[in-house]
Formats: sequence, C-alpha cells, structure tokens
Amino acid sequence: MEAAPRPAALTALRHATAASHGAIESLLRLDAQIDRDRYAAILCGFDVFLSAWEPAVMSALPERLHGGFMARSRRAFLHQDLATLGLERTPAAAAALPNLPSRAAAFGSMYVIEGSALGGQVIARQLAGRFGEGKGTGSAYFLGWGDLTGRMWREFREQLEIEVGTDPVDLEAACVAAVQTFDALASTVRARLDEPLVLAA
Ligand code: HEM
Repeated sequence: MEAAPRPAALTALRHATAASHGAIESLLRLDAQIDRDRYAAILCGFDVFLSAWEPAVMSALPERLHGGFMARSRRAFLHQDLATLGLERTPAAAAALPNLPSRAAAFGSMYVIEGSALGGQVIARQLAGRFGEGKGTGSAYFLGWGDLTGRMWREFREQLEIEVGTDPVDLEAACVAAVQTFDALASTVRARLDEPLVLAA
C-alpha cells in the first residue's frame, strides 16, 4: 500500500507560523480569569479585523471558491457575543491586513483563521458560561461550528493542499501571508486593548 502524500502546505504553514501562534496566545491570554472589558476589546479587535479581511480574501479567490469561503464565516457568532456583552456595534477602526497577491497567499491566510477554530474549541470550554447565560453564552465565536469543527478542518486541509499545491514559490507565498495574517490580527487586537471600551454594567 502506498503511503499518503505528505501534506506539503500544512507542514510548511505549521512550521512557518509556530512562533506567531505562541505570540498571539500570549497577547490574548484568553483563559478563565479574563475580565469582561478585556474580553470585549478582544472580540472587537477580531470583528474589526474580519470585517476587512473577509472582503480581501474574496478579492484574492476565484469566484468558484466564494460561496464555500463565506459559508465558513464565523462573524455572525462574533456579533452574537458582542450583543451578549452589551455592544451592539463594534467601534469603527482601521484594521491591519496581510498582502494577498495570489490564491496561494489567500489560502495561507485562510489557514490562520480556519486553524484558530481548533484552539477556539479549547477557549470556548474555558469561557463557557463566563459572560452570558441562556441564549447568548458570550463564547459563540470561539465555539464556532462546534461539533462540525473537526470535519470542516479536514475538508479545509484537503482544499488547502489542492489549491496551494507543491510549487515552492506558492508554498512560500502561503507562508508569508500566514505570518502576515497573525501579525495583522495581533496588531488590530492590540489597538483595541490599548483603547479600553467602556461597557454598560
Ligand atoms: C489564547 C488563545 C489560543 C489558544 C489557547 C490556542 C490553542 C490552540 C490549540 C490547543 C490548537 C490545537 C488544536 C488541535 O490540534 O486540536 C490550536 C491550533 C491552531 N490555532 Fe490556536 N490558540 C489560540 C489562539 C489562536 C489564534 C488567535 C489564532 C489565529 C487567528 C490561532 C491559530 C491556530 C491555528 C492556525 C491552528 C492550527 C495549527 C495546525 O494544526 O496546523 N490560534 N490552537
């Protein structure tokens, strides 16, 4: 029996972004001790980032991939959390964005946001019931697609390998965009953390 081919894109992306993942984890410190204002500022940072990032990815993807990309969006969950925390609307703010000059770059960037749904399952368990009860739990974004997360991640990984391929130029473009995506998200969230929100009690 032939061994399964090595996932070239996933292997390269994991290697290239290991340090960036550690850095954003340290920045967010999304553990059970987090207070409500800090958590709300982080969610606002994600919302500011994703509101600019989603259209940027759409522009970099061929039309045949648009529907599948938008079907994976977790922004509606984010808005549910913001409402639970008493923020109906995210303050207007500028987002940093990665450069996405090619489809390979777009997939490298998507790897970061899709992969974050895995860590999201761990984060959601830590935050469960912390900021809301009943309809809004406050951790809907990190819970995301919940039980479907594993299956969606496997499907994304298959698509990632097909769309990025094994050409070293494309692999490099995907890795550069992935690191830029971590950096852009971190700097957008950091800006919200530096400018604390005042929430209604
Ligand atoms: C405190 C915050 C975070 C924690 C505790 C965390 C934790 C984790 C954990 C436990 C996994 C592995 C899950 C598994 O294999 O089942 C993971 C994967 C991942 N996380 Fe995070 N994460 C955090 C934040 C983020 C953020 C903000 C991003 C990017 C927006 C991110 C991107 C990723 C990616 C891309 C993977 C997939 C790695 C791979 O399998 O190739 N994480 N995270």
